[in-house]
Amino acid sequence: MRNILVTSALPYANGHIHLGHLVEYIQTDIWARFQRLRGNRAIYICADDTHGTAIMIRAADEGRTEHELIAEMSESHQNDFAGFDINFDHYGSTNSEANKETCIEIWDSLNESGMVVKKEIEQLYDTEKGMFLADRMVRGKCPTCNASDQPGDNCSKCGETYSPKDLIDPISTLSGTTPETRKAEHLFVQIEQLHSFLDEWTQSGTLPPESANYLKNYFLNDELKDWDISRPSPYFGFEIPDSPGNYWYVWFDAPIGYIASTKEWCDRESEKIEDWWKSETTEIHHFIGKDIQYFHTLFWPAMLKSSPYSLPNKIHIHGFLTVDGEKMAKSKGTFIQASTFLKHLNPSALRYYYASRLSSKVEDIDLNLEDFRMKVNTDLIGKVINLASRSAKFISKTGLSSTYPDDGGLFKEAAEMSESIAENYENGDFSHAMRKIIELADKANPFVENSAPWELNKDPGKQDELQDVCTIALNLFRQLVIYLTPVLPSISEKTEELFGEKITSWEQAKTPLTGIKINKFKHMMARIDIKDVESMTEESKENNKGEASKSGWNDSPEPLKDEPLAEEINFDDFMKPDLRVARIVEANEVPEARKLIQLTLSLGGDERRNVFAGIKSAYNPDDLVGRLVIMVANLAPRKMKFGVSEGMVIASGPGGKDVFLISPDEGSLPGQRVH
Ligand code: MSP
Ligand code: ZN
Repeated sequence: MRNILVTSALPYANGHIHLGHLVEYIQTDIWARFQRLRGNRAIYICADDTHGTAIMIRAADEGRTEHELIAEMSESHQNDFAGFDINFDHYGSTNSEANKETCIEIWDSLNESGMVVKKEIEQLYDTEKGMFLADRMVRGKCPTCNASDQPGDNCSKCGETYSPKDLIDPISTLSGTTPETRKAEHLFVQIEQLHSFLDEWTQSGTLPPESANYLKNYFLNDELKDWDISRPSPYFGFEIPDSPGNYWYVWFDAPIGYIASTKEWCDRESEKIEDWWKSETTEIHHFIGKDIQYFHTLFWPAMLKSSPYSLPNKIHIHGFLTVDGEKMAKSKGTFIQASTFLKHLNPSALRYYYASRLSSKVEDIDLNLEDFRMKVNTDLIGKVINLASRSAKFISKTGLSSTYPDDGGLFKEAAEMSESIAENYENGDFSHAMRKIIELADKANPFVENSAPWELNKDPGKQDELQDVCTIALNLFRQLVIYLTPVLPSISEKTEELFGEKITSWEQAKTPLTGIKINKFKHMMARIDIKDVESMTEESKENNKGEASKSGWNDSPEPLKDEPLAEEINFDDFMKPDLRVARIVEANEVPEARKLIQLTLSLGGDERRNVFAGIKSAYNPDDLVGRLVIMVANLAPRKMKFGVSEGMVIASGPGGKDVFLISPDEGSLPGQRVH
């Protein structure tokens, strides 16, 4: 039996749980449940990440204390997680005594090992708010490419990283005023001292190969920069004992929360922290998203190295969620909160869909809402649950046959898949596991189809045969449910009720049940109706409208500053460009051109125009086909290297990734004039 400690990243207390977060918490929960079903001891530990400037500002905006805000969020997060059957052994908070103590302990060992240094740095200071500004609280022009309205840490146009004080014309996002540069003393951890250790540790199989290679090529090639871990007052967090007026940066105390939350669990359960965080034989597995890998693969092991606590054995890293192929977007209703999903749809459906998409690779996963509906309806309900719903009712009187009948080898074949499915789960290749399980269902269903218990039921002379057929169908069903138990705990529970037998071990998939009573079949899960999906996205749009008006639209003045208004024109001038609604009926890459996509535009009927548009860095040709745009239809044709361009599509934005095609509202028709 393995002893396994499993964690997910600690969600920030400054926002609600959404479907993106759930990729991680569902993934981790499945893995932890799988380990338990295999007979291992696995505990799943998490907590809210409560500190930092964002929480401080939000609490101030809402006119309440940080403690009130984080208490409310913690409750809301835990409700959301419970709603998705995510089962933590303990859910703590980084704002706890246990965490403070553990921070002090780790801080002391860092100091003892000589890794902490003091340095004076210059930082931007908002004189109106009376505070130093974090990187993301400053925006201005990129010092490298001059792109406007860029955040203080790196440019979204050219990708350059810099410090906020390098920005041209910086503006504080808190007050809209121009910040000034002030000196302050900060504490740094010299992780370079652990360079060779980190090199070895990151390359020793603890990380997915993609991440290990990336670190090797980009980080461990150079000297590792000192890590700034203190923030001056005002800051919501823990004050550093030997540096009054300075606080630990939220990313210092956040991962320590993994240990502290485990300590709280130990106190409750009369366990010993030594057995979990100071034991050679306990495995520690962190599940995180790709956006926070450096904190977990460089800083966190560096913090742990000199401490009395164990290093993690494995960091499982997943990609980001897209919805219908795009980043979640509030305006499209695809920024879906966990609680909104629960109002309209069954959580098991999302657990199953994510499982069917997750692999051990660090790749983004897409929630295609139509595919989601189809997969759940066809695979889960049509192929798995139907096995039981079509057979259970016929043997509620007789129960299962007393010996397992000849099923042509179906049960045995599925039992033999046990280890290979388990291996997929173990490696985080849930999508492969799901595929194998559905393939087994694909073999079980024809058996039921051909044996037609509903026909046998009508013939009094065939009642024994009916009992045998249903015994087989129900055992094949239960076998699949055992394999799906980590993913679908609530379906597993309903299956336990049906058979009156607990599902506690993976091994149970190897032996059919016989001679027992079968309880009345209760409905297990409804098909997903497209209307429910639609009402969920509609409600998500509504949520967002409320949010936008509550906070007031806080649009940046930069775009207008960058490109001041043009000189006045009269009405005739305005009527010169003939703008038309057009539909993109074809869109192709122009392989030799870096920026261009070739578009065939329809103006209705047979009218077609060929246009080369410089939108390649912002759009994927496949996503464009079918959408409506606005084109300048009377522009003189222009001969280009790749062909003749017969007009232009109109868009806003400075260029590069930031190009935004202008779409007409629904109802407008290709060919209509825009005026
Ligand atoms: N508070 C930090 C983690 C501290 S761990 C010591 C944090 N919080 S978070 O709320 O922003 O994210 C929590 C986890 O959810 C992260 O692992 C993050 O990668 C993951 N996800 C958040 N949005 C996501 C998507 N849209 N898609 C997939 N995972 C995402 O980071
Ligand atoms: Zn730039």
